[in-house]
Amino acid sequence: EYKWLYQFPLPIPQTKALNRVIPHPTTGKDINYYEVEIKELKQQVYPDRGPATLVGYDGLAPGPTFQMQRGTEAVVRFINKSKNPNSVHLHGSYSRAPFDGWAEDVTKPGEYKDYYYPNGQNARTLWYHDHAIDITAVNAYYGQAGVYVLHDAEETALNLPSGDYDVPLVLSSKQYNSDGSLYSPASETTSLYGDVIHVNGQPWPYFKVEPRKYRFRFLDASISRTFQLYFESDKKLGQKQEFNVIGSDAGLLSSPQKVTDLYISMAERYEVVIDFSKFKGENATLRNSRKIGADIDYLHTDKVMKFVVGKDSVEDKSDLPSSLRTIPYPKDRTTIDHEFLFERKDGGWRINGVSFADTANRVLAKPARGKVETWKLINGGGGWSHPIHIHLVDFKVVSRKNGRNAVMPYEAAGLKDVVWLGPNEEVVVEANYAPWDGLYMFHCHNLIHEDHEMMAAFNVSFLAD
Ligand code: C2O
Ligand code: CU
Repeated sequence: EYKWLYQFPLPIPQTKALNRVIPHPTTGKDINYYEVEIKELKQQVYPDRGPATLVGYDGLAPGPTFQMQRGTEAVVRFINKSKNPNSVHLHGSYSRAPFDGWAEDVTKPGEYKDYYYPNGQNARTLWYHDHAIDITAVNAYYGQAGVYVLHDAEETALNLPSGDYDVPLVLSSKQYNSDGSLYSPASETTSLYGDVIHVNGQPWPYFKVEPRKYRFRFLDASISRTFQLYFESDKKLGQKQEFNVIGSDAGLLSSPQKVTDLYISMAERYEVVIDFSKFKGENATLRNSRKIGADIDYLHTDKVMKFVVGKDSVEDKSDLPSSLRTIPYPKDRTTIDHEFLFERKDGGWRINGVSFADTANRVLAKPARGKVETWKLINGGGGWSHPIHIHLVDFKVVSRKNGRNAVMPYEAAGLKDVVWLGPNEEVVVEANYAPWDGLYMFHCHNLIHEDHEMMAAFNVSFLAD
């Protein structure tokens, strides 16, 4: 049992330093060049046990945070100094297929690969994580995950809380052995929910904040746990406090969505603004609800972190505008182009009965480039949740049935690249399959399901099917 709740400060992942700029061979524009080493690190998680051995980007877990500007391309060299093969996926980027972290495109220990990132999309919170075939869960869980923030001028002009007041909060849930080492998910075949909740790698941290507005970028980097987050002040226990959701996977929402509860499943990103000026001199706790799908609850999995709010008023020059951006929704249509059933079958996890290992049959869709397609995602039951991620595109969540029966307002107010398919749910999503041709993956982001074959491919083609 972990006895040091809210005893250690929230670590803030360091910003990734630029190695150099390279002129683009044809445009002459600067390309930002970075190098990242994938290597071991030790982390003292339990003060009274041995350290845990992790493997992270630059020997950090989470990895360093990339701060990128829209319009400046980047090349990142990932050098594998670990013992496992790796493949890096920049989740949220419309990367070209050869740089998208295709599961079988692995870099062996001792080798490196240069990934080219276009940074051409609107401002958003992306993340980079491992995607190597069959060992994604292990690699991501041991630390290969980091935040990648893309900024643009339109967003900067909104004057949202920025700098020290714009903070990534990477959630993850893990389990430890009695000697303090990590319990490995390697032999798990269904899920590893974990009893220790981490934020930015630290179990149940505290964070000292000023009584003003903050922007937090939540990412659920857990391999199997979904959260339903809420806030309460220690002065008013049991009373959920309101906060604003301002962004999701594909960037800002159309307008801030006031909530008391926020569902966030694996790989989803939600950005929120919390105004601590109403909690001056109080402690505010970020909590998690119990009984989410089949997730297993443990003693402290209903707690996440504590905010210690300063007593003295500060000047807050940031804004929270009532309108944030115009969402480029795909054109609505009524036909369903594809239905995909996500289910447990023959002791494994399948999409329409197909496993990713079935190379002859795993291409389940061939959208023409630039065409809007509507996909119905169906949860085949058993109480499991399946957060479904479609690479390359930003999609609109059109409808949700047989569970919550409604798209959450904060899902509807923006575009997504992961959608949580709760137990028995049916969700319809719509996307423009663009801007590139190529073979891309879609899969469940419970990484144990993904490693056990709940993954398939779609081939975006210039030629119509
Ligand atoms: Cu975040 Cu295909 O993954
Ligand atoms: Cu799943």
